[in-house]
Amino acid sequence: MVVVPLTDDSLTEAVRAALASVMDPEIRRPITELGMVRSVQVTDGRAVVGLDLTTSGCPLKDTLTRDVTAAASGVDGVTDVAVELGVMSAEQRAELRRLLRGTDAEPTIPFAQASSLTKVFAIASGKGGVGKSSITANLAVAMAADGLRVGVVDADIYGFSIPRMLGVDRPPTKVDDMLLPPVAHDVKVVSIGMFVPPGQPVVWRGPMLHRALQQFLADVFWGDLDVLLLDLPPGTGDIAISVAQLLPGSQIVVVTTPQ
Ligand SMILES: Nc1ncnc2c1ncn2[C@@H]1O[C@H](COP(=O)(O)OP(=O)(O)O)[C@@H](O)[C@H]1O
Ligand SMILES: [Mg+2]
Repeated sequence: MVVVPLTDDSLTEAVRAALASVMDPEIRRPITELGMVRSVQVTDGRAVVGLDLTTSGCPLKDTLTRDVTAAASGVDGVTDVAVELGVMSAEQRAELRRLLRGTDAEPTIPFAQASSLTKVFAIASGKGGVGKSSITANLAVAMAADGLRVGVVDADIYGFSIPRMLGVDRPPTKVDDMLLPPVAHDVKVVSIGMFVPPGQPVVWRGPMLHRALQQFLADVFWGDLDVLLLDLPPGTGDIAISVAQLLPGSQIVVVTTPQ
């Protein structure tokens, strides 16, 4: 039998390789590809992993620390793992943004491109309280459970209820001017409610709403989606018209009650 000696160098390499299995929970790509692994050093079986977070207040640092520790601990010969958290520099964030967007150009709406494979459905109704948000949330979760990659935009300025229905309680993470949507039940979620102080009414008029919707669609890093659902406010007002303009390929699901 040949015994391969476990040197510090070979263990360091093995830990690095193991970290490629750790996904960033928001971006859903290996942390090694995203430039988040700053350093790996194994000394006498003790692994120290330097991890750079996208933002200092990264709400997912506990998840990341746990996943990194688990992956590194799984390497034969590693007896102990320490994770040293840091924060990406402005340069690293710009690099990450370029990597994700694939370009330095101004953000465009990916779903409006002719090459887009994402099916877009706007959930609409003539009046409020008929079940739009319930339909949107349930459709999204059911489709995600079926293995589709799903995103939801809650565009109901009069009563954003999607975050509460899906159990999302934090805003998107900012990487430069790019927003990483929170994920719940495997669904990426962005709501107009994430951008207004709690308990305050939205008093935006048409142009502001148009700009907000455009931002949700262009500045949010959605990744490759199979389906995008939009929960619209009731009626055929500003938001509905903006959706038609910004997403000419979208389809409408109209929700009504029997009366
Ligand atoms: N299929 C349904 N049957 C009965 N009640 C429903 C149904 N769908 C939704 N509801 C209830 O109706 C109310 C309004 O639903 P919601 O989805 O918030 O409507 P909307 O988004 O159109 O305002 C909620 O209390 C919800 O629980
Ligand atoms: Mg609603």
